[in-house]
Amino acid sequence: MDEIKIFAPGTIANVSCGFDVLGLALDNVGDEMVIRKIPENGIIISKIVGQDLPLETHKNVAGVAGLALLAEANANHGFEIEIYKNIKPGSGIGSSAASSAGAVWAINELLGKPFGVKDLVRFSMEGERLATGVPHADNVAPALFGGFTLVRSQEELDIISIPTPSELYATVIHPQIEVKTADAREILKTNVSLKDAIKQWGNVGALISGLYTNDYELIGRSLNDYIVEPIRSILIPAFDSVKKQSIKAGALGCGISGSGPSIFALSKGEAKALEVAEAMKSVYNKVGIDYDIHVSKINQQGIKIL
Ligand code: HSE
Repeated sequence: MDEIKIFAPGTIANVSCGFDVLGLALDNVGDEMVIRKIPENGIIISKIVGQDLPLETHKNVAGVAGLALLAEANANHGFEIEIYKNIKPGSGIGSSAASSAGAVWAINELLGKPFGVKDLVRFSMEGERLATGVPHADNVAPALFGGFTLVRSQEELDIISIPTPSELYATVIHPQIEVKTADAREILKTNVSLKDAIKQWGNVGALISGLYTNDYELIGRSLNDYIVEPIRSILIPAFDSVKKQSIKAGALGCGISGSGPSIFALSKGEAKALEVAEAMKSVYNKVGIDYDIHVSKINQQGIKIL
């Protein structure tokens, strides 16, 4: 196999209570990439369609993540990458993670899978370091594993796949403004009060329990963020109204997708997720803000060959 075409999913990081540790993969939101072997060593980004992003290997997250893999691989040739972007950078739906994880996953396939998925997370995190200044794993892990993932430790990588209840759907609305993850991290406080921490870890534990036991009500009660959302929501137009109307329409819970500005809600069943989409749209239609909106099942597979 000399060439491969893949789908790399968008992801929702944090999932409200799990800042930098929880994430989930989307099913019908993502980028496509073509990766092929070339005789020259190294990585060439030959084409980017859909977004204005750098072609220089060292400035492109797919290039940097791919180089991190090649530095540990036994390859006597290189790779050319074409990226077809559907996820906008700065949307909060894991744009850089999709490119980074997609590149290393596809290169690993073409090399005959010398690396395991945990290594692929590690290489992809170098792309995240370039994009955000911090090599966080909560977008690249669900992109690579599929489903929900929990990053127990980022230093000595420890990633746990969490089962997904079959009727869980995500609604994601992306107001057409860009919020850079680096900026959205800059404004966060570096200390957390014990009172907030107690509430937060209660929610993380309960969310994981709800996902294991298909307890949709518990999942809903756990989707609360006392630490990051109160600060970041200020950057997102009409966040409080979108959240209020989503819950009123029957969403289990609603919060910021990754570092925003996208807002996500989880619902039981596609019909409910579509109703939540209507509720979200009506808020932005009223205030006159352009948006993209997606309703998606949770992706169980992660990256896949097309
Ligand atoms: N956990 C990261 C953050 C995700 O919220 O900054 C960025 O997509």
